[in-house]
Amino acid sequence: MSIIPFNKPYLSGNEIKYIQEAHLAGALAGNGTYTNKCTTWIEQKLQCKSALLTHSCTAALEMSSLILDYKPGDEIIMPSYTFVSSANAFVLRGVIPVFVDIDPITLNLSPSEIIKAITNKTKAILVVHYAGHSCFMDQIQKIANDFNLDIIEDAAQAFLSKDSNNRYLGTIGSLGCISFHETKNIISGEGGCLLINKEEHIERAQVLHEKGTNRTKFLKGTIDKYTWEDLGSSFLPGELVASFLYAQLQSAEEITQKRRKLWSDYYLKLSAYDLGDVKLPQINLGSDLDNAHIFYLLAPTHEFRDNLIYKMKLANVQTVFHYVPLHSSPGGIRFGRFIGNMENTNDIANRLIRLPLWIGLDTDLVIRPLVKIINDLNRL
Ligand SMILES: Cc1ncc(COP(=O)(O)O)c(C=O)c1O
Repeated sequence: MSIIPFNKPYLSGNEIKYIQEAHLAGALAGNGTYTNKCTTWIEQKLQCKSALLTHSCTAALEMSSLILDYKPGDEIIMPSYTFVSSANAFVLRGVIPVFVDIDPITLNLSPSEIIKAITNKTKAILVVHYAGHSCFMDQIQKIANDFNLDIIEDAAQAFLSKDSNNRYLGTIGSLGCISFHETKNIISGEGGCLLINKEEHIERAQVLHEKGTNRTKFLKGTIDKYTWEDLGSSFLPGELVASFLYAQLQSAEEITQKRRKLWSDYYLKLSAYDLGDVKLPQINLGSDLDNAHIFYLLAPTHEFRDNLIYKMKLANVQTVFHYVPLHSSPGGIRFGRFIGNMENTNDIANRLIRLPLWIGLDTDLVIRPLVKIINDLNRL
């Protein structure tokens, strides 16, 4: 029996054609024709002031730290239940990540925990929209306004999701960071995007993006040679990546709809079974506001979850857990600190299991062994 992988990158049809066209055009470096097509598409769709393609969401997060000019010893509040880049991008500039607990229903930052972590060194709140579902943005914006803090959105998983006010995620904070990694909904292998939502950051972002030079102005023809102006690095992808991404963006609505259908399929079918203490998500991650990035279950215990992953593997279905909490990891202990008891973070990290979710998947091939294994484990 063939293995059902956890992820299978979806090709919408025009990826190879556009790569060939980029090659034929004879200009493969960054910030060319396809890059412009992608950023224009993103800016128009999301209604954001400016978008810059990056080679990853990690790079977009690193750019955020540079743009906002944080200094060693500054603090940034963030969840511990996230990917390492959310913290590392700031630690690289000497910023201290202050980890706080998540809400047990949305698995996103808990606003009341944010308030407890604010000190006179706090500069920003980094929100992570887990599984593409919006954080409590109204409450978090109020806290940020009251304490004069920046909001940076790690919307790695949240491309095309919206909050309850119909705002695209990534466009609400000062800066938004998106991932187009092959495990995301819209992909370019490795890839990402920085959304710049405040006019005042646009010019500096362009300079940092282009190795610290004013090359963007040169490309626009407003200066006749470009020169070194500021800090920076090579954050941009080449045209081969951008041309692949453009094909995906053109099919983005169709991809999102298909994922929502798969998500609902899982939910409706699994709801019909008695799974004992194995719980379905309490929020609808396949709603019209959400991008159906992840389908997860919560097992009753850590041991149950690990057994379930192991037995699903024996049944040729790949499932995975999420995340190893940052506050208790060696890097988190070395570079950051945490506030509160981290009860929800530890609990969710121990019990969450992600199911395969990719276009073309027959969910029955996952559900059949899953339900049988859960029933067997429930009887132990
Ligand atoms: C919440 C979060 N932030 C950042 C990243 C990093 O994204 P990338 O691989 O594009 O750098 C990921 C990757 O999965 C993520 O889940």
